[in-house]
Amino acid sequence: MKIITSIQDMQARMLLEMQQGKKIGFVPTMGFLHEGHLSLMEKAGTENDIVVASIFVNPLQFGPNEDFETYPRDAQRDTKLAEEVGVDILFLPNVKEMYPQKQQIKLQVTDRADVLCGQSRPGHFDGVVAVLTKLFHLIQPTRVYFGLKDAQQVAVVDALIQDYNFPIELIGVPTVREADGLAKSSRNVYLSETERAQAAALFAALEKGRQLVVDGESNPVIIVEEVKEYVKQKTNGKIDYVELLAYPSLTKTTTVKQMVVLAIAVQFQHARLIDNLLFNEKGEIITTFSRGK
Ligand code: PAJ
Repeated sequence: MKIITSIQDMQARMLLEMQQGKKIGFVPTMGFLHEGHLSLMEKAGTENDIVVASIFVNPLQFGPNEDFETYPRDAQRDTKLAEEVGVDILFLPNVKEMYPQKQQIKLQVTDRADVLCGQSRPGHFDGVVAVLTKLFHLIQPTRVYFGLKDAQQVAVVDALIQDYNFPIELIGVPTVREADGLAKSSRNVYLSETERAQAAALFAALEKGRQLVVDGESNPVIIVEEVKEYVKQKTNGKIDYVELLAYPSLTKTTTVKQMVVLAIAVQFQHARLIDNLLFNEKGEIITTFSRGK
């Protein structure tokens, strides 16, 4: 595995790969890799000639009171894991390399960002599309891989690719979970022992909501209430939001029809956890999402 830290070297290397007609799978991450990240890299490996991954904790997507400074980092361990899972090129820039000066042009996400995490984290998705625009230009991937754990992020990337004509295929990959259902996340390390035990209730609550749809319920208000009630009973966390929205438009809906996302965010003492389920009007789970070139 080749480790590259400078933009110039990255561009030179990617030009070479492209000239050889390679299909390039790209997995952007902020590191502290776990099985969720690794599943994206593995999938990229099965569908492309080479896999490029990036590890960069992007300051632009963190709010002033968020955890940019304390976000868990372990480049050595990450490098080993990426190599083991078959990454060919690992891009590891520092902040100065990515942002040598103040941004002169800002992208603003106007749709799909005024709900869910976009509402509770103003500016977050503007920061995400800023870094991804840079990375997509640098790497010029054939396919990009994102986890549906962050379903709103997938919807925003979908919009970015459409609006700015990136010739890229977007692949949304199923959420990898712990045995008790908790979605794997770099932030799970912030949970106390008690909170960790309680955190499984997020997935259980979403499943309860989905089950209502399986049983014939189609009113989002009733489904959302059921999920909130369950989480309140089972955890000491503070519910940030529970919402049921059409997917990927993330528009409000008065009834469950076609594809919807049932999403939750809960603030624990030192960690804000998010999770979601995608399903159809029958309550059947949808685990993948893709948008062709
Ligand atoms: P990060 O949180 O490191 O996540 C990198 C990728 O891993 C994202 O696509 C995310 O959805 C996916 N992922 C995280 N947990 C997962 C799980 N349990 N199962 C499957 N996939 C999972 O998301 C970001 O970084 C950043 O916003 C980034 C896109 C890199 C831009 O800075």
